[in-house]
Amino acid sequence: MSTSSGQIFQVVRQAARIEEIIGEHIALRPAGREFVGLCPFHEDRRPSMYVSPQKQIFYCFVCAAGGDVFKFVENYHKMSKGETLRFLAQRYGITLPEFRATNPQAASQRDKIVDANLWAAQYFQSNLAGSIGHAAREYLTSRGVHAATIERFQIGCAETQWTALAAAAGKKGISSETLVSVGLVKNRSDGSVYDVFRNRLIFPIVDSSDRVIAFGGRILPSAAPEPNATGPDQEGPKYLNSPETALFSKRETLYALNLARQPLIRKQLAVVVEGYMDVVGCHQAGVENVVATLGTAMTEQHVNLLRRFCNRMALVFDSDEAGRRAADRAIELLLRYPVDVRIAHVPDGKDPCDFCMTHGGEAFEKIVTQAKDSLEYAWEKMYTAFQASDSLAGKQRASEALMRLVAPAIFNNSVDPIRRGLLQKNIADLVGISSDEVHARIRRLAVGTDRPSGDPGAVKPDAAPPVEVDMGLQRAGHWVIGALLCDFSLYHEFRDRISMDLFSSSDMAALLGLLLEYLEELTDMAAGNLAEFIARVDNPALVRLAIQAQAEAERGGNLNQKIEDSLTRLEELALRGSPAGIDADSSQVAPDEADRLKTAVNARMQAVKINKLQRKLGPRPSGG
Ligand code: CTP
Ligand code: MN
Repeated sequence: MSTSSGQIFQVVRQAARIEEIIGEHIALRPAGREFVGLCPFHEDRRPSMYVSPQKQIFYCFVCAAGGDVFKFVENYHKMSKGETLRFLAQRYGITLPEFRATNPQAASQRDKIVDANLWAAQYFQSNLAGSIGHAAREYLTSRGVHAATIERFQIGCAETQWTALAAAAGKKGISSETLVSVGLVKNRSDGSVYDVFRNRLIFPIVDSSDRVIAFGGRILPSAAPEPNATGPDQEGPKYLNSPETALFSKRETLYALNLARQPLIRKQLAVVVEGYMDVVGCHQAGVENVVATLGTAMTEQHVNLLRRFCNRMALVFDSDEAGRRAADRAIELLLRYPVDVRIAHVPDGKDPCDFCMTHGGEAFEKIVTQAKDSLEYAWEKMYTAFQASDSLAGKQRASEALMRLVAPAIFNNSVDPIRRGLLQKNIADLVGISSDEVHARIRRLAVGTDRPSGDPGAVKPDAAPPVEVDMGLQRAGHWVIGALLCDFSLYHEFRDRISMDLFSSSDMAALLGLLLEYLEELTDMAAGNLAEFIARVDNPALVRLAIQAQAEAERGGNLNQKIEDSLTRLEELALRGSPAGIDADSSQVAPDEADRLKTAVNARMQAVKINKLQRKLGPRPSGG
């Protein structure tokens, strides 16, 4: 099975376009022969992730995340190798042979969570479709939600009974342990279990790889506490959410991002609303670049998640007091980022859902396009507070609060000079000091504010190592590896001169070991490719080294000459008895790990050579 699964990986890797896949997850723009975008693996402020369609690899110049398309999907979605394979195969319409473990025990805990949630989502959906779902369907109809929308959002409902889900899950062989861990049931003190979601509308929360990772349950009107109701559960909160699990964190999740991602990349605008129902209503009205937080304030993680796709955001919140408070908090957070933020409130005390249902998507889009710039919003709030205050101290507090709020935005270049000048002039006029003085105060406040962490600061996105022809030890090894990575066919010519003994136990030796192993296994050099090799390298430090060496060699001109010179240099050093390429200080791989690798590689190379020899000599006599 190992060869056939290897072949499957190969087939999928060949079908997949890394620029396409990554482009579906982050906004990419062309940069020469490559694409760049914000790196999703660290808090990236300037685009530092490069994607090469030619090489089929990605690489971040700041955090050194890198690899092939499998690596990206694996890391981005925190998937296992198997899940990644399924994900990519499905994306490219490749049918996989049945790899599923027949032994349920073998499935990982994460697989169990995913399977249980998927089953539950289907269970809730079938409730809604059947006689149990009558009241819920009536409620959805009364809110104007169409059948197609219910389908698209996989909306379902939970029964009024206490153990309906637990019993149905039991019949499917889903353990109550798993159900407890995903928060679908709870334990009673007598050891029995009861359903957490009862008589609620159910909104499955789906992650960007279409896995159901949690549920939001909205109370149904019929479940309102009856006058003589007993038991605390008759009066649950309006919304219940699944607990945090290995796959679900409220702070990192946005409702419907799976459906909104493409639209918001296309429009380069993310509309953020407060509620599940708001998202449903907007999408139904044809406004699909809409997501919601899950009953929490916006977090840094949410901002960073959205910033991967676009730099413009519009917050459209309810016009009630809670909605205004949420907007204030969101602005305070967002002004610290280089994003264009607009704020709007839905008129007439409506929420975005009801507004869309009554006035339609175009009217909603109008609210979005006419939304106030965040600075303007902040200014107006301050102005109101300033005018309302009759003490000098109060007025001062109001103006200082505004300056403090806008300071980070003004100095992170997210505000254009005209807007900045206008704001400063407005403040100056109001407070009665000069515009320069306002500027100086804001600057002082900006220095004191903390910027979002992880700012690469001075690192330039294209800060690739300079091309220098330094024939030092490291450099010589670098060139050999880089040249081989550029052109595998060079291996034939230099094969007899390249050996593990030329390198000491450094990263380089470890990398060369893996490379030689790969090259030895290739039956046809033309069949090898960089991405495939990179995919075999597990250690991120070695991935980084490989990508850098390859890029450098590629820019460095005559590969043949480079590899010749480098080998000569290494051979000289080896003859003199000094181990070449020793660089313990900068080594990212523990020496013992490199040694272990080296030994293992030597053994495996030996085995490969013997194998080849045997192939040449023909089949072994039977019985041997
Ligand atoms: N919320 C929550 N717990 C509550 C109330 C609200 O987690 N007790 C969260 C939910 O994510 C909800 C959001 O806050 O979607 C906004 O609340 P609300 O406006 O009351 O809900 P809507 O989804 O807009 O639902 P509806 O329009 O039916 O009131
Ligand atoms: Mn609402």
